[in-house]
Amino acid sequence: MIECDIAIVGTGLAGMRAGVEIAEKSRKVSVALISKTYPIRCHSVCAEGGSAAVLREGDSFELHEWDTVKGSDFLADQDVVEFFVRECPKEIIRLENWGCPWSRTADGKIAQRAFGGQSFPRTVFAADRTGFHEVHTLYERLLSYENVEFFNEFFLTNLAIADGRIQGISAIDLKNGDLEFFKAKAVILATGGAGRLYGFTTYSHQVTGDGIAIAYRCGIPLKDMEFMQFHPTGLIPSGILMTEACRGEGGYLRNRLGERFMQKYAPEKMELAPRDVVARAMWKEIIEGRGFESEHGPYIALDLTHLGEEKIEERLPMIREAAIKFAGVDPVEEPIPVKPVQHYTMGGIHTNMFTETPVKGLFAVGECACISIHGANRLGSNSTVECLVFGRVAGERALKFAENAKEPEIPKNFIKEEESRIYDKIGKGDENPHAIKKRLNEVMDTHLWIFRTGEGLKEALREIRELKRRYERVVISDSSRKFNVALLSTLEVGYLLDLAEVVAMGALLRTESRGAHYRLDYPARDDEHWLKHTLAYYTGKEPRFEYLPVTITKWKPVERKY
Ligand code: FUM
Repeated sequence: MIECDIAIVGTGLAGMRAGVEIAEKSRKVSVALISKTYPIRCHSVCAEGGSAAVLREGDSFELHEWDTVKGSDFLADQDVVEFFVRECPKEIIRLENWGCPWSRTADGKIAQRAFGGQSFPRTVFAADRTGFHEVHTLYERLLSYENVEFFNEFFLTNLAIADGRIQGISAIDLKNGDLEFFKAKAVILATGGAGRLYGFTTYSHQVTGDGIAIAYRCGIPLKDMEFMQFHPTGLIPSGILMTEACRGEGGYLRNRLGERFMQKYAPEKMELAPRDVVARAMWKEIIEGRGFESEHGPYIALDLTHLGEEKIEERLPMIREAAIKFAGVDPVEEPIPVKPVQHYTMGGIHTNMFTETPVKGLFAVGECACISIHGANRLGSNSTVECLVFGRVAGERALKFAENAKEPEIPKNFIKEEESRIYDKIGKGDENPHAIKKRLNEVMDTHLWIFRTGEGLKEALREIRELKRRYERVVISDSSRKFNVALLSTLEVGYLLDLAEVVAMGALLRTESRGAHYRLDYPARDDEHWLKHTLAYYTGKEPRFEYLPVTITKWKPVERKY
């Protein structure tokens, strides 16, 4: 058993920012930073375009709030958004002070560029490797604290909860297969989203919703899971993110007829409308036959050729490299073939604005959480900075909780039961987990994509439930203990199946269109019945749903035009 005061599960931006906050405030509490992989291989390093913050005259907190609320299709909680936008600039300056190499203007100031849905270009960036530099800045800082210890390649399996309070977590030590228990006064979940529900996604293979599914199975509600973000520009065929900064720097989207078709859909903002609007427009162009054809299917052209080599090399060097390596296209000379791609989980573990879950001492932050600033559609560059802002809050809150908490107690038989669940009960059948995951991805890519219908969602649910039945007879092909990736991926598939059911049921029940959730059979937003958050509860059978009012402070919902 490993004892610590605070266990942070997940070492992406949110988890690391929480760790820094705790260590800055107290050199006495012991912090375990637990990662399924290595901290600098977390998915946050894939964040490219930037982090939003109000830094300049001409911009204001009110504008950032309004853009975020309007972008969310009025499902964001406005009190949380108000707090968030006021904290963003502080985080950018903190990272600056800690050595983050932000891109600069000619006179040496922190540079900013435009992103979708913004009234002012407020995205701070470090070329097109923003997440990479933010992660490294925090990681370097964390290495300097003696009360922080990293536990790399430990895979979360369960939360120990007793008397409504967190007592610790269990995780497999992948090096030897031992099930380890981390006894902790407070736990922060920062385990990321669930992008690998989908086949065509910008997400790394490790992003399988583990923390979200485990919290759900432990009785913690999941909020707004039906809202999945589709980023307009995924490179075909791989799905590698072609950052929104391509359009922020002046890139165009064109169909096969050479038209900048966004003129029809968002005449004011054009390519810099929010992601839900652009992704839908692109998909419509493709469905209606105005996409380009290729051996990998239809696509839209992302044209940067008019930006010139110098600007592309300075602002978008990695995009150029990726397009050349993975699509054989040099953006300096020809357009990049792209189509919409799954990119973000707007929903997640239900928390209040202080990152607190309904379980005392358990906090959730970053993409695994739903703190309700993104609502039905996140604006680009609001998520990396969300990890920083609320990572700090989670660290502060967890520290306060741990400093006043009683010693945790491991629930009787917790470890024994967990050991038997994982090593004796799962994987004794004959169903291939990879085949189940492949089919799940196909179902999600078909029925839970940009345009949804009641019929399609019912079919998706039927298939997901059939896959869940097959999963009960799954086989784990490797019985060894060391680095058993067969076991790991089988557990991940189980998490994804539970989450898929919540996403599909939530989407079927929500008979309206809002943000990224677009129902062809209910194409209008319906504030009278659906201006509310979805909460999904685990029952052991199908999820149970409740609804929660949205907090509206300044802005009454109005029609969203761009
Ligand atoms: O396009 C991008 O660079 C993505 C940014 C984001 O998801 O915030």
